[in-house]
Amino acid sequence: THERQSVASTPGTLRRMATSGPQARGFRLDGMLLGVATAATQIEGGDVDSSWSDWADRPGTIADGSTPRRATDHWRRWREDTELMASLGVQVYRMSVDWARLEPRPGAWDETAFARYREELELLHERGIRPLVTLHHFSHPLWFERDGGWLAPGALWVWERFVAEVVTRLGDLVSEWVTINEPNVYVTGAHVFGDFPPGHRSLPEGLRVFEVLAAAHIRAYALIHSLRPGADTMVGVAHHLRPFRPGNPHNPWHRTLTAVMRRLFQDAIVQAMTTGEFAAPLRRPAGVRAGHYADFFGLNYYSRTPVTRFDDGTPPGVPVNDLGWEVYAAGLGVMARWAWETYRLPVWVTENGTSDAADAFRSRYLWEHLSVLGEVRAQGVPVDRYYHWCFVDNWEWAEGEGPRFGLVALDYETQERTVRDSGRFFSEVAHEHGGTL
Ligand code: NOJ
Repeated sequence: THERQSVASTPGTLRRMATSGPQARGFRLDGMLLGVATAATQIEGGDVDSSWSDWADRPGTIADGSTPRRATDHWRRWREDTELMASLGVQVYRMSVDWARLEPRPGAWDETAFARYREELELLHERGIRPLVTLHHFSHPLWFERDGGWLAPGALWVWERFVAEVVTRLGDLVSEWVTINEPNVYVTGAHVFGDFPPGHRSLPEGLRVFEVLAAAHIRAYALIHSLRPGADTMVGVAHHLRPFRPGNPHNPWHRTLTAVMRRLFQDAIVQAMTTGEFAAPLRRPAGVRAGHYADFFGLNYYSRTPVTRFDDGTPPGVPVNDLGWEVYAAGLGVMARWAWETYRLPVWVTENGTSDAADAFRSRYLWEHLSVLGEVRAQGVPVDRYYHWCFVDNWEWAEGEGPRFGLVALDYETQERTVRDSGRFFSEVAHEHGGTL
């Protein structure tokens, strides 16, 4: 077994936070597993024919003109990264596998890529880190996209073939799976607002893709359990949830729009994926039955949305991160409680973090969000896991290399990694408060 060692830390940060401010009571996290989250396209780098590498090659799609080809070069630096993660005391690691890399042509599997993922997963186990693997994190092979993506007639069949292959080949090393990451963010980006590939702008089309993704999740859920029967197998979705609230609570139009947005972009898809029940505006796809399709509730939480129009925005005067997103820790508690009360599933915070290049407020952000989780846990909401987004700064989709979400800073030119103060703070929290695997 491996002795986890602490990196040179900032002793006292935790104590300072614990003795000052409103949360002076300290954390009550006992038993919660703490880790970090990433996604293949955002870290691996290299030449992969994916929907996103093709998209990034088109002028005007990515804020700084960067592409996922550089990223953090994790495809080659995975050993260094895994050792660093272990040294920080990470207990659980959410990563994704790149479908485009594993299946470069329809039905043709890349043996080297599978072997490389196996090596990485083995090292994680050796270091006592439990992996949670995402199968679709915003990106897929370019050939899948060109065939019509999720709207192609054979899409679900192709998806199931991929899922079966991955679970058959990696299932001895992975028992926990996220089928699809943030279906609502993906669908709005790719099919409604058009800032993700394929860049379409059609609400009716977005609603159809929601239905296909719900069916894709439900089929994958059943397939994974049939390939890996056993109590250890845990399958879920990472849902992006945020409290929607009327920009002006006295404005009836804002109130109506808030309710519509919540139903369209959050409640309907979450319900469809979790229970197989499709409420308007979604229609149940043929062959899908009501049932239980999640073993945990994956919750990605960043911010809240004041609704004033068919879009989102942040009012002036609230604390914001580098991207202008409001920092609002209480919302994490609201959404964790909602998830538990609605679905009675253990809640895994599959992402939470902030863009803070100066590392000016990330430690406090962590402290406040974890404190909120401690409070809702004390009230009986089973929040079992927390995965911080993210480990090393990485490629933020349409925002490119600009935003800095990492506990570890990255110099893109030299690929040098430097643990931030907040990374040391996270490490201190993980060592002192993390549960046991
Ligand atoms: C959620 C997405 O899953 C992830 O890919 C992204 O980088 C973070 N949010 C931050 O925006």
